[in-house]
Amino acid sequence: AGRLDRALAAFRAGEPVLVHDFDDREGETDLVYPANAVEPADVARMRNDAGGLICVAVSDPVADAAGLPFLEDQIDHPAAAGHDLAYDDRSSFSLPVNHRDTFTGITDDDRALTITELASMASAVDAGVDYGPEEFAAEFRAPGHVHVLRGAPEGLSDRLGHTELGLAMAAETGQPPAVVVCEMLDDETGGALSPAAAREYAERHGFPYVEGEELVETLR
Ligand code: 5RP
Ligand code: CA
Ligand code: ZN
Ligand code: ZN
Repeated sequence: AGRLDRALAAFRAGEPVLVHDFDDREGETDLVYPANAVEPADVARMRNDAGGLICVAVSDPVADAAGLPFLEDQIDHPAAAGHDLAYDDRSSFSLPVNHRDTFTGITDDDRALTITELASMASAVDAGVDYGPEEFAAEFRAPGHVHVLRGAPEGLSDRLGHTELGLAMAAETGQPPAVVVCEMLDDETGGALSPAAAREYAERHGFPYVEGEELVETLR
């Protein structure tokens, strides 16, 4: 099997995959997990080894059912006006949330709980369970410590972010439409970890590394 098939097989088994988007986009490599597989030790790996923001991307239909909006449409402050991201048309940020059974929401246990409960929610909505904002609010509170991202309606045909790249991997491997993404940063420079260093990390830990381009070619 090729590199992409091996990466998808690992992802299906709940392993993280390193995904570099594009040199002419963010130029970032995210650690990407199916959200249902995330345990507290995985949260620890993301904050210690990746170091970026820990987010859960859900598909557009799931976000729609749960009433999860794009955050930029909800913030009533001039800081949310003038959409001038350097690398894309818009951010995929929705609400930051905590599961209601968490305490502070930030600990590895708390974030793993919020993440896996978001996966259960996405799985239920995907299976056709009647679910709305009230049901979401009974389970989760906002603001919280896990950033929900909302996938573009047409996926990779609409937007080429880690949000959509991760959700495409979930769809291809039969996972619920909820994936965790976290940027890998370089502890020496504070910048994005270079693709070479990300590949080296992947090899050292036995994790697959793929380019966004490979995912787009096969999954779009
Ligand atoms: C949130 C981000 C990350 O880059 C994440 O990968 C999601 O964003 P995108 O879909 O734009 O790549 O900025 O921490
Ligand atoms: Ca670190
Ligand atoms: Zn990204
Ligand atoms: Zn980013």
